[in-house]
Parts: sequence; C-alpha cells; structure tokens
Amino acid sequence: MAENLYIAEGGKEERYAALLPQIESLISNETDEIANMANVAAVISETFGFLWTGFYRVVGDELVLGPFQGPLACTRIKKGRGVCGTAWKEERVLVVPDVEQFPGHIACSSLSRSEIVVPLIKDSKIVGVLDIDSEQLNIFDETDALYLTRIARLLTGITHIGQ
Ligand code: SME
Repeated sequence: MAENLYIAEGGKEERYAALLPQIESLISNETDEIANMANVAAVISETFGFLWTGFYRVVGDELVLGPFQGPLACTRIKKGRGVCGTAWKEERVLVVPDVEQFPGHIACSSLSRSEIVVPLIKDSKIVGVLDIDSEQLNIFDETDALYLTRIARLLTGITHIGQ
C-alpha cells in the first residue's frame, strides 16, 4: 500500500489521473468495503479539498451514511429524496451546479453550493453512492463525472460492497 499520497501539479484532470492508480493500489489488497470507502474519501478530500466527500450505502430502502470527510451529515436518505436519493432512483450521475436550484436538495451544510453524486454499481445494481459537496458554485463537470465514475468502478470491482 502506498504510504503517501502524491498530488499532481496542474488542473483537476492531472490530479485525477495521478489519483486513480494510487487508489487502485490503495484498495487492491483490501476487500473490506468500509475500509476502502474510508481511504477513498480521505484521498479525494486531501487531493481536492472539497467541503464534504463521502459515501452512502444502500441498506434496505434507504441510503445510510458511510465513511466521509467533512462536516457532520444526515444519516439516512430515502430513495428519490435529495440529490443522493435522486441519483439512486434515476440510476445516473447527477451534477448539480447550484444546489439551491435543485428541488428537494438536502442541505447537510449551509456552506454547500454545488454537488456531484455518482452511483456505485455492482452486478447492475446500485449499492451506494459517492457524494461530493463544494463551497463553490458550479465546480463539477464532465471530468469529475468521468474520473469519479472510474473510482466508483474500482471500488465495486475490488471490494465486497453490497454483498
Ligand atoms: N446534499 C445531499 C445530502 C447529503 S450531504 O450533502 C452530505 C442530498 O441532497 O442528497
């Protein structure tokens, strides 16, 4: 396991490109989903300094708070509720440039301005979501969606998540 996180110089694409193989090596020898989610949340947070970076896991008919970095968050989200529950219901990545414009957005922190939610898919089923909040408006784009989807795939491919 890598002991130190290397954060590339440059823009977000360079940072994600350097982060991805590090995440792969970080989680490839560990099958426990919580341990891997915890480290993935930590390295994304350390690389980009987002307000909140973390996971919700599907437990029954709800999303339940998992490992995260950032201010305290709501613990349970129903399917179809908020950005996370909508990404789960609609089975897609949601990029929200301005959370105030998203009907039903759940404000865990009043500092959050924009958000991205990426489903974790295992055997064609959503088993959780990766949720990231930023204090800046309109910070997330297709680059984030692309790389965070790759990170989500690494997690569900390697760990026993959802089983
Ligand atoms: N804003 C999310 C709730 C989770 S927190 O941001 C950590 C939502 O609307 O689903």
